[in-house]
Amino acid sequence: MGIARRAESVSSCSAGNQSSSPNHLRSRARARSFARAKSFDLNLSARSKNFDSVASGFSATTQQLPAASERQVRCVHGREVATVRLKGRSRETPTDNRSRLAQLRFVMANILVVGGAGYIGSHTCLDLFNKGFTPIAYDNLSNGHLEFVKWGPLEKGDIRDRDRLDEVFKKYRPSAIVHFAAAIEVGESVRDPSAFYENNVSGTITLLRAAQAASVNKIVFSSTCATYGVPLAIPINETHSQLPINPYGRSKLIVEQILRDLDLYQGVRSFILRYFNAAGADPQGRIGEWHSPETHAVPLAIETALGRRPHFRVLGTDYDTRDGSCIRDFVHVLDLAEAHTRSVESLLSGSASHAFNLGTGHGISVKELLKNVQQVVGDFKVEYGPRREGDSPSLVADNSLARQTIGWRPQHDLKSIICTAANWHSNYLPRLV
Ligand SMILES: NC(=O)c1ccc[n+]([C@@H]2O[C@H](COP(=O)([O-])OP(=O)(O)OC[C@H]3O[C@@H](n4cnc5c(N)ncnc54)[C@H](O)[C@@H]3O)[C@@H](O)[C@H]2O)c1
Repeated sequence: MGIARRAESVSSCSAGNQSSSPNHLRSRARARSFARAKSFDLNLSARSKNFDSVASGFSATTQQLPAASERQVRCVHGREVATVRLKGRSRETPTDNRSRLAQLRFVMANILVVGGAGYIGSHTCLDLFNKGFTPIAYDNLSNGHLEFVKWGPLEKGDIRDRDRLDEVFKKYRPSAIVHFAAAIEVGESVRDPSAFYENNVSGTITLLRAAQAASVNKIVFSSTCATYGVPLAIPINETHSQLPINPYGRSKLIVEQILRDLDLYQGVRSFILRYFNAAGADPQGRIGEWHSPETHAVPLAIETALGRRPHFRVLGTDYDTRDGSCIRDFVHVLDLAEAHTRSVESLLSGSASHAFNLGTGHGISVKELLKNVQQVVGDFKVEYGPRREGDSPSLVADNSLARQTIGWRPQHDLKSIICTAANWHSNYLPRLV
């Protein structure tokens, strides 16, 4: 099957998968509710002298709410964060609406998305924007892409550059930070650990110092299941020991510990999110996974199925798992993005700090993944090699804490991951490279 033919079958996969699924209907309903929230934002900015524009954004306070005719504001996650009837000036708003109005404070708030031009960061910018926030992407573009910054301004800069960070904090006065920026390549972390710690740890300390100076004390941090090391029990819950087996995992654990100290001694509230294996893409193909070099299983398998790589090499077939290959928990990037928005909302609502896993709770073996990609995208050659050092046999999340804490429920299954990723890789990524 040629690339063109495969692209066709992939697009039919995504169309069929979405139009018929209850998820898709739910997301349509959500899109309608986002559109309402957005039109409110625009209205708000037009009416109020206090608002230059939504893009220049700053946190609306109750006092800043403009005089408005009766209007309902609905937003986020298919649940209502704020449903408010604004009659006359906000100061005259009936008492029973005051707590709801307080919630409106963070609709339109600026959120500094550090690493916002990268894979998960850009999907989070999309989700934040859809829920009424203004995402400000701060990224040095070392691995990010200008083309991914579509839902708010880009401020080019490095997390190790304190002066640049101070400038950006002053310009936007963000209400919270979502921090994705990091070197992520495990192999590179073994080859050059100090460079890794410099970026991931030292850079994060500079970011935290700048945030502190700007009185920003809410942060959502991208951590990883790699902080658990080799799991002693599956699924992994948050009480599991954290004994990372490479500098990448250790750099993330060090930042987790720093954040705990900042919480304890300085009142900095953080949500530490330990992702399992992020995969999938925006179903509309506006953004997707684009790492260089690519080392993640889903994009590698899809590129092989599209004929862009000669074969897929399975690393290890003698693990103590159901088919001998490693088992991983693939979680859709849109589900991850949504968890970040929920975390931001919780922090802005005054939540205490938390750390939790973000995975689906379902393990898929590498061989099972390949079989699914072959069915959806097309057949390809698979080779089998020895284990890679540092790979855990099985990494599957117990996600019950995230469910309880922020009401997070992953909406996408493996088919949705493969279909959206294949759509991105076959129809959209080639236009950019
Ligand atoms: N992709 C996964 O499956 C996965 C799993 C667990 C954890 N994570 C974590 O999630 C975060 C995002 O991962 P991703 O897959 O989107 O990676 P990514 O490389 O696509 O995104 C990281 C972004 O940070 C930027 N960046 C890196 N160093 C920077 C610096 N010094 N200053 C400013 N910007 C900088 C890069 O340019 C890039 O845009 C990372 O912290 C990673 O450790 C990812």
